[in-house]
Amino acid sequence: MPGRYPEAWIEELRERADLVQIISSYVPLKKKGKNYWGLCPFHGEKTASFSVNPEGRFYYCFGCKAGGSVINFIMEMEHMSYGEALKYLADMVHMPVPQLEEDPDYQQKQSQNERLLNANREAARFFHQTLFTEAGRQSLEYLKGRGLNDHIIRRFGLGAAPDSWDSLLKHLLSLGYTAKELELAGLTVVKEAENATETSPARPRRQYDMFRNRAMFPIIDAHGYVRGFGGRILGKGEPKYLNTSDTPVYNKRLGVYAANLLHKERHLDHVVLVEGYMDVIALSQYGVKGVVATLGTSLTDEQARLIKRYVPKVYLAYDGDSAGQHAILRGLDIFRNAGVDVHVLDFPDGLDPDEFIRKEGLEGFESLPVLSPETYRLRRLKESYDLSTKEGRTEYAKAAGSILKNLQPVELENHIQDLMLQTGFSRDVLLAQIGYSKSEAVPVQTGTRTVSPVSRRVPSSQPSNEHVRGEELLISLFATGKLPPDELMDEEDFTDPFLKNVFHALKSGRSPAAIIEMQKTPEDIDRASRLMTPPPAEDTNELLQLARQGIHTMRAARLEEEIAQITKSMSALPPAEQLQAMTRLMELQKMRNQI
Ligand code: CTP
Ligand code: MN
Repeated sequence: MPGRYPEAWIEELRERADLVQIISSYVPLKKKGKNYWGLCPFHGEKTASFSVNPEGRFYYCFGCKAGGSVINFIMEMEHMSYGEALKYLADMVHMPVPQLEEDPDYQQKQSQNERLLNANREAARFFHQTLFTEAGRQSLEYLKGRGLNDHIIRRFGLGAAPDSWDSLLKHLLSLGYTAKELELAGLTVVKEAENATETSPARPRRQYDMFRNRAMFPIIDAHGYVRGFGGRILGKGEPKYLNTSDTPVYNKRLGVYAANLLHKERHLDHVVLVEGYMDVIALSQYGVKGVVATLGTSLTDEQARLIKRYVPKVYLAYDGDSAGQHAILRGLDIFRNAGVDVHVLDFPDGLDPDEFIRKEGLEGFESLPVLSPETYRLRRLKESYDLSTKEGRTEYAKAAGSILKNLQPVELENHIQDLMLQTGFSRDVLLAQIGYSKSEAVPVQTGTRTVSPVSRRVPSSQPSNEHVRGEELLISLFATGKLPPDELMDEEDFTDPFLKNVFHALKSGRSPAAIIEMQKTPEDIDRASRLMTPPPAEDTNELLQLARQGIHTMRAARLEEEIAQITKSMSALPPAEQLQAMTRLMELQKMRNQI
């Protein structure tokens, strides 16, 4: 939660991540006065009651009372935790995420990462341009030979690394990047020469292009930044693919290939997850939407969460070979843990998606059998038992039982019928093995998506007290910069603990967005959002008048309260203290009369 990262950093993030621009990419907004308005993305509505306040950097819906900062918005829309949303936004605006509290290299890292990303973009441009020159002819022939057309080559920004030791190195040095930066970005490699001599003990370092004579696949993230590359050998040879290893701007475990296209293809309800570069490209060329690759087979939790931000459902389309099959079982686990609805596409004959779609076309692809996780697991399980023996059938039935736990009744029914045929056990025995007694209702699984934010919000009641309204007005004026400094009131002036907290936060420099973000209950979010919304009055004098009145009512209320308290407790006090109390009482009464 807030505070894990330095508040100054979070505040900079709130400033840099343009609220209006980000919200606009989800909801069309119209400017009216100082604020922007649109249809609320959190509840269905026909008239716009969703407001975005660019000055205070927060949004607030007058309908469902949802409110918050850009970080809250991303949390709701992308189903992320606070920490995830921070990282997501930081990534979007290129702010490196600081370690914990202090990171003195922060500024430097930030500009370094920007430079590495720019160097990568230039490299991608260089490879792409080379593809259409003599130096790239072989690569172009290779890609065409694999059935790719010009359109798809451009769409994926494919390129050619020339058959040369240093053409990229020279090109990027000429653009002003340093040798060190190119090394850090993984665009070049450095070798210490073996032949150090007595006279020159310092081994000469030789720096040369990482990718040579290969067809190039830029790895582009959701926001369009080139993070790394894969280079395929032109024909047979090892290694088949050469990939950027981890760099300050690339970590294979955190991203998926073609995330940029996923980001553009809004309103998808599923993705197709494949293993390799060519699988993504071939499926896309044939018209399959939302295809991304893990680049190899080791799906990570981070990749699963990234995918979940975009869609609730995944079709695993890993290769039919044994590595691919093993990866499917792992993928099923990871997606289940991430709460993603996952299915398996059943490719025949060990074909990979690329090979399959070239043979069978889009139609063939769309009629591939879709297996539920349980069907797939049972199929793999069955391979390890000999069902022609009684022992084999018994052990299989037992193991199958644990796979089928927690299934919905209709899904369970299909499997039970198969199992009865395969093992010869009766339905009651199988159900008992799975863990149901006959009378017991089969438990119903709940959905995987989080509850929509609307249902969590309850309308809050307006505070009725006169002086509380005065306090609220003061906070509104203060938060929106309408209260001149000499009118500043004291924290002690606030009787309402909520307002006292908000005032304290404002005074210690928290932004309106940060304060709304701090609130924990829907009621408090609503109340804080309304407080940060400037009062509509135009006349500054009138506002000041109101503010002064507010302070007075506030102070009077506080005095009254203290007077009442002292009066009440007076008789119970020891004589020495009674005198003290009396003096204070008179002081208070005098102050009250002055107001
Ligand atoms: N891979 C890799 N290095 C290798 C082999 C594979 O990085 N030596 C990664 C690549 O991202 C590749 C993916 O694993 O795209 C899948 O590997 P594989 O199925 O062997 O390759 P294909 O994608 O089928 O490649 P191609 O069609 O070009 O042979
Ligand atoms: Mn392949």
